Amino acid sequence: MNDDLAIEVRDLVRTFESRKGFFFGEKTHTEALKGVELNVGRGAIFGLLGPNGAGKTTLTKILSTLLLPTSGTVQVLGHDVVKDTSWLRSRIGLVLGGERGLYNRINARENLRYFADLYGIPASERDRRITEVIERVDLTWAADRRVEEYSRGMKQKLHIARGILHRPEILFLDEPTIGLDPKSARETRKLVRSLVVEGVTIFLTTHYMFEAEELCPRVAVLSKGKIVANDSIAGLRSRVGGDRTIEVEAYGFEDREIDRLKGLPGVSKVAGEAFGPLMRLTLRVRTDDTTPETVQGLLPGHPELSVRERRTSLEDIYLDLVEEEAQ
Ligand SMILES: Nc1ncnc2c1ncn2[C@@H]1O[C@H](COP(=O)(O)OP(=O)(O)O)[C@@H](O)[C@H]1O
Ligand SMILES: [Mg+2]
Repeated sequence: MNDDLAIEVRDLVRTFESRKGFFFGEKTHTEALKGVELNVGRGAIFGLLGPNGAGKTTLTKILSTLLLPTSGTVQVLGHDVVKDTSWLRSRIGLVLGGERGLYNRINARENLRYFADLYGIPASERDRRITEVIERVDLTWAADRRVEEYSRGMKQKLHIARGILHRPEILFLDEPTIGLDPKSARETRKLVRSLVVEGVTIFLTTHYMFEAEELCPRVAVLSKGKIVANDSIAGLRSRVGGDRTIEVEAYGFEDREIDRLKGLPGVSKVAGEAFGPLMRLTLRVRTDDTTPETVQGLLPGHPELSVRERRTSLEDIYLDLVEEEAQ
């Protein structure tokens, strides 16, 4: 056990068996997590980044004791998520995405009273604590309104208020800005940033690279149930094969043309993507020897050829990590 760690995950596997098809006769077996290894330090925002279906929610639920691992060991705050469930539940907060989990017919204060009772917060402290968290998430002005009148963004703030009501040491936020309008998403990110100042460790999942970049000094990238990177944002930036990206578009390319591009000096990757009848190749380029002009010269006989150069973005690095190489 390492006291500096908020989360320690060793060889975590989680599978789901489900039935589908006619009369649910067909058994399917999904391996959502395939041997996850992860350490998360205390007192910062840690980002788990990954596309839909990567396993983010599954991992978040296991870390917050909602779901059991199939195999492997998971410790949160130095305690085992399978054995020390009740010890952990009083010390962790969880906010899952979506709109469920609030009572629409009653106001914010009444909703929180219900959860305060669930968390076992003493009656003497309850109302003061509720006023405090409502203030904390900037909902004081709407605290006495029924939740059914709340916007999506206000509901999300109330979810976060619920998540911190019992003053957890660690807060899990699963895609906290999904489905929010840009202004509410910004406010939610600001709120998340301010929580960490108070010493809460935050584990946040997202499928937006820019969100991870804005909030998280460190991120792990989850792809198809495996951690494919675990690094600082600066570290992720530096791992890119080249600092330039060349995009080439035309009505299709031949294999030998793609091979020629792959053979160019400093080209670390060539990925292909179709846009209707158009095909776009994306090249990661490390040296100055390969320019848009060199690329153009290698592709004669394409009347509609377009070649552009741009800086490689963090988003590109993320896509490189989660997508398999085309061709
Ligand atoms: N209860 C379940 N039953 C069957 N399959 C599931 C269940 N929950 C998740 N999965 C599958 O596990 C994989 C990971 O899902 P999830 O953890 O929700 O990913 P993410 O949150 O990154 O989108 C997906 O293939 C998903 O279909
Ligand atoms: Mg999810």
